[in-house]
Amino acid sequence: MFVLHVALQGCLRTENVDYGLTADTGGHIRYLLDLVAASARAEPQPRIAVATRGFRSVHGAHYEPGEGIEDGVEILRFATASPDYLAKEDLWPEVPSFAEALIAWIERQPVRPDFLHAHYADAASVAALVEDRLGIPFVFTAHSLGRVKAAAMGASDDARLARRIAIEETALARAALVVASSRDEAEVQYAGYEAYDPGRIRILPPGSDLARFGHAEACPRLEASIARFLREPDKPALLALSRPVAKKNLPALVRAYGESPELRARANLVIMAGNRRDLGDLDAEMAGEVREILALVDRYDLYGKVAYPKSHRPDDVAAIYAFARDRRGIFVNPALNEPFGLTLLEASAVGLPLIATDSGGPNDIIEMCGNGELVDPRSTQAIAAAALKILGDDALWDRYAAAGAVAVAAFDWDRHARRYHDLLGALQAGAGPAAAPEQLLICDIDNTLVGCADCIATFGEWHREQDGLAFGVATGRSFHSAMAILEQQNAPRPQVMITSVGSEIYHLQPDGTTYRADADWRAVVSRGWDRAAVHAALAGFEGLVPQAPLEQRSHKLSYFSDGDREIGARVRARLEACGLRCSVIHSHGRYLDVLPIRASKGTAVAFVQAHYGLAPDAVYVAGDSGNDIEMLRTIPQAIIVANFSDDLASLPGLQHSYVAREKYARGIIEGVDHFRRKARGASWLRAL
Ligand code: GLC
Ligand code: MG
Repeated sequence: MFVLHVALQGCLRTENVDYGLTADTGGHIRYLLDLVAASARAEPQPRIAVATRGFRSVHGAHYEPGEGIEDGVEILRFATASPDYLAKEDLWPEVPSFAEALIAWIERQPVRPDFLHAHYADAASVAALVEDRLGIPFVFTAHSLGRVKAAAMGASDDARLARRIAIEETALARAALVVASSRDEAEVQYAGYEAYDPGRIRILPPGSDLARFGHAEACPRLEASIARFLREPDKPALLALSRPVAKKNLPALVRAYGESPELRARANLVIMAGNRRDLGDLDAEMAGEVREILALVDRYDLYGKVAYPKSHRPDDVAAIYAFARDRRGIFVNPALNEPFGLTLLEASAVGLPLIATDSGGPNDIIEMCGNGELVDPRSTQAIAAAALKILGDDALWDRYAAAGAVAVAAFDWDRHARRYHDLLGALQAGAGPAAAPEQLLICDIDNTLVGCADCIATFGEWHREQDGLAFGVATGRSFHSAMAILEQQNAPRPQVMITSVGSEIYHLQPDGTTYRADADWRAVVSRGWDRAAVHAALAGFEGLVPQAPLEQRSHKLSYFSDGDREIGARVRARLEACGLRCSVIHSHGRYLDVLPIRASKGTAVAFVQAHYGLAPDAVYVAGDSGNDIEMLRTIPQAIIVANFSDDLASLPGLQHSYVAREKYARGIIEGVDHFRRKARGASWLRAL
């Protein structure tokens, strides 16, 4: 395997990188170099080269055009039209000359790269030119997206930004694979693009140097700098650590604390909000945030309970987490949106339970580690309730603290590089078009396929022997959330994925790796669906709380419900009163999904069955809970695993189902065997 990375920006070298030397020598260069270094350690070792721009020196450091080996990596610096360093906004005119130089180089090579990997939009326009001429496919990592920037800046007629967005559109439309770092990036940030196709995006979390945080130790100097604020410094500390900018939402945490007498009694609050010598030196936004924090301390009279040191050293960070950990505290990140959440990972590695915003990357971290609570960052009550829940339950604190260790192994560059090269290898090999299946097995994921590690291992072995049986999943999760859990559990790769409770369908492509959304199904469910009207009709509905933003999809609105068993009927009535016909699906007594009237796991399975041209007796479905009822009801060969909930086995419409004696994935195998035996028995009888 030969992968050629392309990155035009910054002062790129493999040793002694001057991060921050220019505004474009930052995060994405670090990412690329870490990936390249981990790739060099991968087995079998791929050939890796990095192509970048050559230019005259910057501040005495040299980046002249030429080829060389640096630190074991081939670095190719190509001359372009301009001989000088150019900031990323000014790079576009260099794209054609860079592409020409790169194409000429590739044509001189005895072995051509299997893939180009474009980092950032400008490199993608180079990769597209190379693909046009040489037919080499490319992988795309955006690193940051023009549309996200445009949204943050408000309406803008910035022509350069518009061009960048247009190039990102082309990159998304053409890339063989798009690599994202988090679900937020894959499912929210990219969703604004016309060419958005979740099935071609994979989430590969970047590594981060977390191991050193595992051994974080207290530091007396730092402890003193915090303790001097506190009357009882040994109480548990709610810790926040971020720059004081508006989107980090630090004042909300002070409010949550100030408003809750119980929380004030139980814990201290420690806010490490960057460094300041004098408030007047900070820019207006940061100064404003710090002033608001100070004003809130005063308003709620929190003196002696809140620490807000003026400064800390960069190498104090581990000790700051250790301070909170040693006092059985909690790390809190109340940001309005947190794209990734490095501090949450660091706190996890140290062994601190988390309370994190439900908007952005923290979803992935908490799902993976199971080490804390997600909250709506605008709800001070939710923040306080989560803190009291963890502080009031020692066993829960211990469990969350221990679970953070998972992060160290998961967010690791070697793991990233392994998965990355596996994906590229699979793409390169291609699976070829799948043979037309003779039978189809569709399984729910949570508590059916997944939930018992041994069972799923047995299922995997069993599945490998089932020629002609196409395997698919039907889940309440989104595509990427489903993908994440399937990969984490080593589940077989599904041929078809019915996601978001049947509102979306994805088919595995002949490359054996990426998926394509079923546009016909989207058209079916879109008929008569007025998302905005549903959203408005249920705003403030008693007993419903919206789920996190990531759970909301274009054709699925999801809520948490209270214990009311009749809530489904009440919601249906409200929607009907507003002239809206929808599927309302209640499960586990706590989830409530509102979908287009034609969408459910049942209708989606029927659609897939027709897609494969299969007879009803060639299809099996398996589930455990309320959101499976529709597919269990409509499919004759329905399997209910032993660990079911929502009274499934006694529902009148499900009496044809087979209730397995075995739980989870073993129950699925048992059910398929049962129906196969039955079918053999029937055909044997017919033959008599
Ligand atoms: C999954 C989804 C959630 C949905 C639930 C029930 O947990 O993430 O949004 O409400 O399934 O369908
Ligand atoms: Mg389930």
